Amino acid sequence: MDDLIKKTAKDLAVSSKVVALTGAGVSVESGIPPFRGKGGLWEKIDPMEFAHIDAFMRNPAKVWNILIREMKDIVDKARPNDAHIGLARLEKLGILSSIITQNVDGLHQMAGNSDVIEFHGNFAWQKCLACERKIETFRVSLDEIPPKCSCGGILRPDCVFFGEMIPPEELMRSRKASYECDVMLVIGTSALVQPAAYMPVIAKESGALVIEINPESTPLTGSISDYLIKGNAGKIVKEIVTEVEHQMQSRKNA
Ligand code: APR
Repeated sequence: MDDLIKKTAKDLAVSSKVVALTGAGVSVESGIPPFRGKGGLWEKIDPMEFAHIDAFMRNPAKVWNILIREMKDIVDKARPNDAHIGLARLEKLGILSSIITQNVDGLHQMAGNSDVIEFHGNFAWQKCLACERKIETFRVSLDEIPPKCSCGGILRPDCVFFGEMIPPEELMRSRKASYECDVMLVIGTSALVQPAAYMPVIAKESGALVIEINPESTPLTGSISDYLIKGNAGKIVKEIVTEVEHQMQSRKNA
C-alpha cells in the first residue's frame, strides 16, 4: 500500500489538472451509510419504492416519512472526515481543481472545497413542486408531512431521484472536467449508477490516469482505472496528502 501512496503522490505532483469523483463511501466515516453493500440503505429500503420520482409523486408522505426524515437526521449530524479534509487540503495546495460528487450531504463544501459539482443535487435545499421556490431544509418544519411551501405546494428534496435527469449544467461541467483532467481520483463509489459512472471512462479516453480508492473493487477496476488503493478513504486520502506535502518539502530543500 505504501508504494501506491508514494506513487499517487508522485502522479499528483506532476499533474496539471486533478479532478475527484466521489460517492457515498467518502461519507461513510462521517456516519452516513452507503446505498449498496453491507449496511447499505437500499438493503433496508427499496429504492424503486422510495427513491424514484414516480414513487414520490404517487405518495409524497410515504417517501417523506420513510426516507427523507431518516436522511435528514443523518445528514444534519454529519461532519467532514479525513477524506473530505484531505481533498480540501489538496485544493489548497493547488493540486485538486474540482470535485464531481454524487453525494447530497454538502460535506465537501463544509470541509472547504470551492469547486464542487453536485451531480445529484443537495439535501440542504427543498424545492416546491408548484412554485419551484427553494427553501433551506433546516427551515422546513416536519410537523406536517409532506411539508408544504407557503404557496401550498408540496416540498421535495432538491436532489435527483431515480427516473430523473441529471441537472444539465452539472452534467456539462462534469463532462468538461472529466475530459480536461490528467488525473482522476475515484473515491468511494461502486461505479454502478449512470451517468456518474461514465465520468472515469471519459477521463480515461482523454488520456487521464484513473486512480480508485475503495475497500472493494468495482466495475472500473482493472478495466478503466489504472490502479486501486484498497482501504477506507479517510485513512488513504490523509496518507496521500502527508506524502504529497513531504515530497513538496523535499523538492524545496533539494
Ligand atoms: N471509504 C471508501 N470507500 C468506501 C468506504 C470507505 N470508508 N466504505 C464503503 N466504501 C465503498 C463501497 O465499497 C462501495 O463501492 O463506497 C462505495 C459505495 O457505493 P454505493 O453505496 O453504491 O454509493 P454510490 O456509488 O455513491 O451510489 C451512486 O446511487 O443510490 C444512488 O443516488 C445514489 O448517489 C448515489 C448513487
